[in-house]
Amino acid sequence: MLQAPEHGDRPNPESAYCPPAPKPQAHPLRPLALLRTLKRNPLECWAAAHFEQPIVAGGLPIGHVLLVHEPGAIRRVLLDNAVNYRKDRLQRRVLSAGLNDGLLSAEGERWRLQRRVIAPMFARRRVMDFAPAMMAAVDALIDRWSALGECATVDVVAEMARVTLDVVERTIFSDGFGSDAEDIRMAMATYFNTIGKISTLDILGVPDFVPRLSRFRVRSTLRFFETEVDRVISARRRILAEQPDRAPNDLLTHLLEALDTTGADGLTEAEVRSNILTFIAAGHETTANTLSWALFLLSQSRSWRERVEAEVDRELTGSVSGGIADRLTETRAVIEETIRLYPPISAISRVALGDDALNGEAVRPGSLIVISPYVLHRHRLLWDRPDAFDPGRFLGSAAASIDRFAYLPFGAGPRKCIGSTFALQEATLVLAVIVKHFNFELRPGHAVWPSLRVTLRPANGLPMMVTSRPANGRGRRDPASRQMMDS
Ligand code: HEM
Repeated sequence: MLQAPEHGDRPNPESAYCPPAPKPQAHPLRPLALLRTLKRNPLECWAAAHFEQPIVAGGLPIGHVLLVHEPGAIRRVLLDNAVNYRKDRLQRRVLSAGLNDGLLSAEGERWRLQRRVIAPMFARRRVMDFAPAMMAAVDALIDRWSALGECATVDVVAEMARVTLDVVERTIFSDGFGSDAEDIRMAMATYFNTIGKISTLDILGVPDFVPRLSRFRVRSTLRFFETEVDRVISARRRILAEQPDRAPNDLLTHLLEALDTTGADGLTEAEVRSNILTFIAAGHETTANTLSWALFLLSQSRSWRERVEAEVDRELTGSVSGGIADRLTETRAVIEETIRLYPPISAISRVALGDDALNGEAVRPGSLIVISPYVLHRHRLLWDRPDAFDPGRFLGSAAASIDRFAYLPFGAGPRKCIGSTFALQEATLVLAVIVKHFNFELRPGHAVWPSLRVTLRPANGLPMMVTSRPANGRGRRDPASRQMMDS
């Protein structure tokens, strides 16, 4: 599917900006080089053939592997014949180390039950109700940055992690983590840095009972999370038992109701705890990286920056309604283009249970299917100027021409991301409010480079100089966000 430049505003000279990305290897790497590169930065493993051919066989030194980047074949794996494919061991290990009972890694009946119970908590209507909590978190960030004075340098990666964790905190436990919030943030960073390093033993398929150093490191962090979460759960249970009318209308209350009211058909205690951790882990780092990359990309594209500024100056004013995120179409297109170029989850993998065929390639029981949104989103057969930053792809008729299975930042099929609506709304709102209040520029001389550590993030942080936008300075204490909360 080649996208013609149909949208009225395309092409423009700046849309040719190609942000930093590893140059594909000329030839697929041999096993030893592949293992070394996988450990350093898996993003650098991809070869030209992966971006040019629909399906490439081979790669990892573990049995039969198919790297699938053809929309029809992807649709078969993730949707039409999804029963024949289950999440593979490596992905479950890397993505959900220690969160074995949660939605992300559960399988079979327990997964189905959890998905049924949890899906309504992330439905569009409910997510819209979370807008005030999201805006309160970004207001706190605006206050923090404003207090820094003019031309302060901030590490955008750390700041975005902070604001997204704040959102998670305000939507899951609206009464917060309390005084331990900073410890939780630090533990989360350790957790991602540790589980993010793929063990060679994992890649080689060495069985689970062989100890991995990283697992020892992550265990104490997990124990810390569990103690914190247990503390918050018991406090909420007390409120639900003693003064149910006072219980906040947040995800924790909904999870505990699923536990308490549905008996055998509901969630177990371990599942409630695992899902809280899953929402924190899956929901905060991914959106934080999206926002960091979006700010970086806007700092490099004057024309898109001006378009988003014009939109937020127009839309984030007095009489805004609850559906504001839907009206921020250009801001949202920037987010969608950001996660095309830098999809936070860069590989979706499945293992085949039985025989199948994908585009004429035989699939055997045990075949590993790898779909990389990173490769798919830059595939030469699917996208026009695949490496160029052009949010116009996601506007008007251009957006309508994108094949559903050529763009998979949130996956597809029954195991599609349950938090996609939440994440898109959050990222759009946070980006809009930051653009409304600040100019931001990359610190001169800082080299930006994508690195894959569970999620795709800028290596070495993203130092940016932030300055209040002059036209906006006076209006700052009358932020649109606060009015939105009332609407
Ligand atoms: C930009 C942000 C996000 C991205 C790019 C993202 C990406 C993904 C992807 C690609 C999958 C599917 C993996 C697969 O099929 O193997 C997934 C699943 C999941 N995501 Fe997200 N996610 C994001 C935000 C969130 C948020 C905010 C939450 C919750 C608060 C969340 C919770 C989950 C859960 C629980 C699953 C597993 C669903 C299941 O297996 O039934 N994600 N995510």
